Amino acid sequence: MPPSLRAPRGTRDLLPDERAAFARLERTALELAARYGYRVMETPLFEQAALFERGIGAVTDVVEKELFRVLPSRGEEREAWALRPEATAGVCRAYIEHGMQTLPQPVRLSLTGPMFRYDRPQAGRYRQFWQWDVEAIGDAGPAIDAELVELGARFYRDAGLTDVEIVLNSIGDPACRPAYLARLVAHYRAHLVRLPELERRRLETNPLRLLDSRDPAMTEVNEGAPRITDHLCAACGEHFAGVRAHLDAMGVAYRLEPGLVRGLDYYTRTAFEFYRRGAEGQQQALGGGGRYDGLVELLGGKPTPGIGFALGLDRVVLALDATGGGRPAEGAPVAVVVGADPADTVGRLRVATGLRDAGLPVRADLSVRKLGRQLEAAVREGAQFAVILGDELATGDVQLRDLDGGSQKPVPLVDLPALLRRKVRS
Ligand code: HAM
Repeated sequence: MPPSLRAPRGTRDLLPDERAAFARLERTALELAARYGYRVMETPLFEQAALFERGIGAVTDVVEKELFRVLPSRGEEREAWALRPEATAGVCRAYIEHGMQTLPQPVRLSLTGPMFRYDRPQAGRYRQFWQWDVEAIGDAGPAIDAELVELGARFYRDAGLTDVEIVLNSIGDPACRPAYLARLVAHYRAHLVRLPELERRRLETNPLRLLDSRDPAMTEVNEGAPRITDHLCAACGEHFAGVRAHLDAMGVAYRLEPGLVRGLDYYTRTAFEFYRRGAEGQQQALGGGGRYDGLVELLGGKPTPGIGFALGLDRVVLALDATGGGRPAEGAPVAVVVGADPADTVGRLRVATGLRDAGLPVRADLSVRKLGRQLEAAVREGAQFAVILGDELATGDVQLRDLDGGSQKPVPLVDLPALLRRKVRS
């Protein structure tokens, strides 16, 4: 292969160890989804670009700069498509398209899968990454908000991360946000000379985003900015108090952060993110979510409240690696079937197939090489036993060698499945 052929920048192969770590997280996620009553679904990896432009917002980074647009090279369809940068817009589209408003509400949905954002790649920021996404559509809260936040926090604990902090805010709704935004813009205008070029441009298009700018020049300006939680309307204030009361009642600890605004336009009221304590850089959010009470209507459905979150599985694997818990050893066979006659691949394959019929993970050594080399390979692979085929096969016996302990004894072939099953490492 010419050296120039490689995985596209910002993507990576998940080699078996890492894939196994992902599989373990997916199992944890799906088990929790079922325990909390969320049903798993799938949406297409690409959708009409208009879905994201309308749903996520045309002047968000995700749509303006990071959308992977897909152009069919031929054919009748001239639709503008895009790879999905997140799942919420697609799940809400599906909710509308399949008439899910007639189901008992809220409809609890979940999915895991790859998302695509054309961002500048760096540690923990990929152009293809995996999320566990959870959505509850059709409940205005605030109890369900707290239940979701608790579910997210539980996932990290179950996955083996013990130092994850919940950061919580409310960003108001169309009743109170415009007046707050006017105050915020006035504040930034008063400090215009101190704003970096990028932030000046954002001030015109999406002023809320200035609040979570990581530009050091903004730290002081942001410290003096009006806080959204001081300007919530009565309904939003009451809702936010309700969310906190439910979290408190469950004993779930969280940190209030009035600067937390999230990067997608559909959010209303509750907004939250998950961070490892002390790791709160821009690319370090392990997950985030919030309420999107206007989204279903914006996409053409009946007015329907909703809330959800997405957790970045790549970042969880990175965090687990950093704590030394990320890569369980998986995939080693219980036994390798080897033989004294190098040429007898038929015999080895038949015995291995019989053991696989009995449900055991077994490999047959299929290369024509001396027994010693076959045994060496079995040890290197981490197999627990070698099943050695030799002369005893004539009387229905094989030799079973314990590769951990080194002992070896003859065993009737018919007893082998039951014996191995009892000895499988737990
Ligand atoms: P988000 O904050 O854009 O929210 O992404 C959620 C999580 O996905 C992030 O906290 C991060 O862990 C991970 N993530 C995002 N971009 C990347 C990237 N380029 N590389 C690696 N990981 C990444 C959403 O996507 C919303 N749809 C969440 C939601 C669901 N809100 C309501 N329902």
